[in-house]
Amino acid sequence: MANFFSRLFQFGSQNMAIDLGTANTLVYVEGRGIVLNEPSVVAIETENGIKRVRAVGDDAKMMMGKTPDSIEAIRPLRDGVIADIEVAEHMIKYFIKKVHGKRSILRHPEIVICVPSGSTSVERRAIRDAASNAGASQVYLILEPMAAAIGADMPVTEPVGSMVVDIGGGTTEVAVLSLRGLAYTTSVRVGGDKMDEAIVSYVRRHHNLLIGESTAERIKQDYAIAIPPPDGIGEIIHLRGRDLVNGVPKEITINQANIAEALSEPIGAIVESVRIALENTAPELAADIVDQGIVLTGGGALIKMLDVHLREETGLPVTVAEDPLSCVALGTGRALEEPVFRGVLMTA
Ligand SMILES: Nc1ncnc2c1ncn2[C@@H]1O[C@H](COP(=O)(O)OP(=O)(O)OP(=O)(O)O)[C@@H](O)[C@H]1O
Ligand SMILES: [Mg+2]
Repeated sequence: MANFFSRLFQFGSQNMAIDLGTANTLVYVEGRGIVLNEPSVVAIETENGIKRVRAVGDDAKMMMGKTPDSIEAIRPLRDGVIADIEVAEHMIKYFIKKVHGKRSILRHPEIVICVPSGSTSVERRAIRDAASNAGASQVYLILEPMAAAIGADMPVTEPVGSMVVDIGGGTTEVAVLSLRGLAYTTSVRVGGDKMDEAIVSYVRRHHNLLIGESTAERIKQDYAIAIPPPDGIGEIIHLRGRDLVNGVPKEITINQANIAEALSEPIGAIVESVRIALENTAPELAADIVDQGIVLTGGGALIKMLDVHLREETGLPVTVAEDPLSCVALGTGRALEEPVFRGVLMTA
């Protein structure tokens, strides 16, 4: 009976964990797992000077780069921090409501939300307030690399050093973890967005062709490779955009080696931040990392040959987490559900 009531209570409470990412927002509901995964995009329409939300998430992303002047598709988080708090709050509320669906909210939920390790107290307060305003009874924060490591099943509660590199849309976070704490963290504002920009500028410079960011992102997801392909060419890629000289649409071909060249700068910055983290790690923990290796999470971990490249650059074992795009949400969810991780939740 007690069990029945506690289950009912849990069901009604719908405690949730949110990975509020620059590129994607994922919502994890206690006892159910990840129930929502949508782009962090909001489409705002301005009519007679009055702003109104037209679409959020998947629907809003489809409008990106194709909206009439009156509609603007906004990404409220840029570089891993909240760029537009009002729009961000709207987005959080929308997603929470969507998750609740037609279920009635019997009790206000507890919400765990992850924040970048480099976020300021002002930014953390803004995120906390947005979740409170969205109806949370209690808001806990968790540092993103800690969540990523828990989600990737790394030994964060043990006295063993391990390193996680979370490559998101806006930032790459590198952290050394041990005993539920972050022994060292560094964050660079280089991630998937910078890679998309690098592809746009490569195509502009070498082919006088203007392509949109969404096109660049698609190319990256399908063809990005961290080191040049063995034959020096790789796959052939057809690209459409607008000719910068005469303004008309045109198609060009590039290859995978070109993409590797375009991405060498952002990828180099990520490798450099790993190197700096290793240099700043206490010797005992560094020795553990030699055994444990480095685990890659976040969407950027899916770039082909990135693990091999990082292994060559550091001499350490490097693995890609299973389902890198979900690690942070899964880890945030487990921190909510499993008492052993309670210590990593922060109230301020
Ligand atoms: N197969 C792929 N190859 C390369 N990049 C990819 C792939 N799939 C997704 N990405 C990129 O991963 C990024 C999104 O990753 P993720 O969802 O981890 O970021 P985020 O958590 O929203 O951002 P942040 O953690 O910086 O706030 C996007 O830039 C996306 O283009
Ligand atoms: Mg992330």
